[in-house]
Amino acid sequence: MGGRTIAFEEKFAELVGCRHAIAVSNGTAALHLALLALGIGSEAGDEVIQPSINFVAGANMTIAVGAKPVFADIVSLVEPAIDPAQVEALIGPQTKAVMVMHYGGYPARMREIMRICRQNNVPVIEDACHATGFRATELDGAGLGTIGDIGCFSFFANKNMTTGEGGMVTTNSDELAARIRNLRSHGMTTLTWERHKGRASTYDVMANGYNYRIDDLRAALGLAQLEKLPKANERRQQLAAAYARAVEHIGRGELEYVYGSNPTAGSAHLAAVVVDPDQRDRIRKSLAERGIQTSMHYPPVHEFSAFKRVAGPQLPHTRAFANAMITLPLFPDLGEEAVNDIVSAVADLCQSRAA
Ligand SMILES: Cc1ncc(COP(=O)(O)O)c(C=O)c1O
Repeated sequence: MGGRTIAFEEKFAELVGCRHAIAVSNGTAALHLALLALGIGSEAGDEVIQPSINFVAGANMTIAVGAKPVFADIVSLVEPAIDPAQVEALIGPQTKAVMVMHYGGYPARMREIMRICRQNNVPVIEDACHATGFRATELDGAGLGTIGDIGCFSFFANKNMTTGEGGMVTTNSDELAARIRNLRSHGMTTLTWERHKGRASTYDVMANGYNYRIDDLRAALGLAQLEKLPKANERRQQLAAAYARAVEHIGRGELEYVYGSNPTAGSAHLAAVVVDPDQRDRIRKSLAERGIQTSMHYPPVHEFSAFKRVAGPQLPHTRAFANAMITLPLFPDLGEEAVNDIVSAVADLCQSRAA
């Protein structure tokens, strides 16, 4: 963690608009450090409210710190982000944090969530792994990942910007930043770089930390990627708009585009549609046969074997979304013609359901 890492952190903080950016080895490490820095799991029975429609990392890290994930439902099938009303209903004395995930890079309902959490004195962690570099006009231009107490980013290979593996933690709190920096490198008071520079010759260990460091090679990749990110995000947004248009014109009402009412109001990390749940698996299989790769973001976390013991409330929208959703190809080099072809293929397969 030398000069490149410091420069990467500074440039990233500038891009998203926050006081501190701390580069780490991956997004999961970022989530782990966020929970640890807030002291979550230090008391028996600590709970973290979070969506079940999420990559499993947030829930796994909640368990790792000794807390319990409490899963909340999503707003709707076309807005699969945590529902503030659910958060409000689930907050109780054991709630130690709310973890929000900006699905596909589209802002979760942060105004309501922040109001509820501030009223209840509960910190907010933003999983902004899909949302790097997006600033929300409706949130006065705030960068996603800078609105709550701590933001977490991933630079895994499939993200809007990548360092192969890599991540970032953001915060406006000097105290949280100091804790995160300390825990990132074994809880040590000084780092190799400082000792190399002759600023320190020894160190103490203040906390039982980890090795969640990034290295200068990845930071150099990150610096180069940051230059490309605005254009890449803009191109993704154009493609998301093309998807939404195609779904409206070619879709014949058989499918809906997730966040289709405003497809450019996010970093457009994912292109997701919802279809008839009875047809979903057949459609995915037929698309694969036509050479169109699809995925599912995400199978609900609370239904995984490792989470079955975490009993929770019924999540009807989560269940319906999980049954109906398909993620379609989306990357900056995808052409608009390809978008139309993909949507035509999905629409044809929806139509052929009676056959
Ligand atoms: C929403 C979300 N959270 C967390 C992660 C974990 O990030 P990483 O793979 O860098 O550990 C990812 C990506 O993989 C993600 O998509």
